[in-house]
Amino acid sequence: MTHLLPTEAVESLDAYLAGGTGGRGLERARSIGAEATIAEVLESGLRGRGGAGFPTGRKWAAIAAQQGPTTYVVCNGAEGEPGTFKDRALIRANPYQLVEGILIAALAVGSRDVYICLKAGFDTEIERVTRAVEEFQGAGICRDCTVGIVSGPDEYLFGEEKAMLEVIEGNEPLPRWLPPHLHGLFSPAPQLGWSATRDQAQAQSGSGAVGTDDATSVAAGHESNPTLVNNVETLCNVPHILDRGASWFRSMGTEESPGTIVATVVGDVVAPDVGEVELGTPLGAVIDAVGSGLQPGRSLKAAFSGVANAVLTADAMQAPLSYEGLAAFGSGMGAAGFIVYDDTACMVDVAYHFSRFLSVESCGQCPPCKLGSSAITEHLERIETGRGTVEDIESIVGWLDNVTDGSRCYLATEEQTVVGSILRAFPSEFDEHVETGACPRRRELPMPKLVDLTGGVATYDETFWRKRPDWTYDPA
Ligand SMILES: Cc1cc2nc3c(=O)[nH]c(=O)nc-3n(C[C@H](O)[C@H](O)[C@H](O)COP(=O)(O)O)c2cc1C
Ligand code: SF4
Repeated sequence: MTHLLPTEAVESLDAYLAGGTGGRGLERARSIGAEATIAEVLESGLRGRGGAGFPTGRKWAAIAAQQGPTTYVVCNGAEGEPGTFKDRALIRANPYQLVEGILIAALAVGSRDVYICLKAGFDTEIERVTRAVEEFQGAGICRDCTVGIVSGPDEYLFGEEKAMLEVIEGNEPLPRWLPPHLHGLFSPAPQLGWSATRDQAQAQSGSGAVGTDDATSVAAGHESNPTLVNNVETLCNVPHILDRGASWFRSMGTEESPGTIVATVVGDVVAPDVGEVELGTPLGAVIDAVGSGLQPGRSLKAAFSGVANAVLTADAMQAPLSYEGLAAFGSGMGAAGFIVYDDTACMVDVAYHFSRFLSVESCGQCPPCKLGSSAITEHLERIETGRGTVEDIESIVGWLDNVTDGSRCYLATEEQTVVGSILRAFPSEFDEHVETGACPRRRELPMPKLVDLTGGVATYDETFWRKRPDWTYDPA
């Protein structure tokens, strides 16, 4: 039951079109028009695969419904979530279905300019996508819009949609205030929807007609340029849905989570890998099927879907891999990148790794996020290295209450959720460290930020420990 990940990589547009289904989704979208295309995606129940699982059709309909001449489409291929490699695997296997999906999305929301965002370090994927776009253009299939390919920074926040728009505009990956459908690309509107001075409002509106004499004026007449941001895998699903129909898509998966999902499984497994599974498959079976299971004699202690969701413990292995199935176990799907730990792993060390990652990647625009995640990381380090006391645990609990205060983006909530869940699920491991003054399960754990994943071998980012909180690096 796989349609997204072919067994053999598709190497040319000719091969893609000759395969029978390639190009048919776009053809159908063009023949039925934007409204019916959105209706088909809505009916399919497709949910965003970038992390939040938002219904794709609803997002498209909301963008299409907004007034104004300019809309944009952005494909999010930043893939910065630890434990995740599926977007790169999809691009390597078939960049053509992605480009076709992007063209369908552009048609649906009436966009004439689209951007495909990848990290500058994703050489292979940039090369594959660039060639695919050129082939679509050369064949006259991509004729209604321009396609920009953006090589972005390595930072985790590049993948956050509000930060991604900043990067496309040439700025640092610092999340802006308003979401892309309210404040899109190159919008002249004020970031908060209003401006403090009349002059500024007039300049931003591009007209003299502000219509109020108040010192605080509403910036009338500006364009918000609603921008659709979708993940690579989300867009890869679209041509198949248009070609084969919503009911075909709904014949797979569950009522609330139709279709298949491309899962990554790394960590304490025999052979880390990426694989496409039907939604609703039990989580334990996915770990066995995609990651070839745990090492002989070992048992599962914990799994994480990236660093944004609560820990999944052994009892959750029977949970259906679906949005509702994982939510019922207090966790979530994320980008379906599963980091698995067996009984030899220290959960205080895992919490320390994840917290350090999030605190370093926090941009600091919201002080409770940067200060809180950094303080939590320091307390976790003290506990893990045997210097911690009960006061360190209490300070972590205190900071977890405040770390999300006034946050612009979800990163602070990730810190609160993932660290809080480990504390609640494994309190005795924290107590053991404090009581014995040492880590009882000392073991070198990698931070599973993936640089490559091929042939059952995961390559992790070696620069993790050298990255400083200001995004510079200690010398090697
Ligand atoms: C800190 C942070 C990092 C993120 N990184 C990614 C990423 O690398 N790729 C991605 O598709 N979405 C990422 N997201 C989610 C995006 O903001 C956005 O929700 C997603 O691209 C929407 O696409 P979808 O509806 O198709 O899932 C991230 C979110 C946060 C808060
Ligand atoms: S919540 Fe954290 S990462 Fe997000 S914008 Fe604020 S400081 Fe930056």
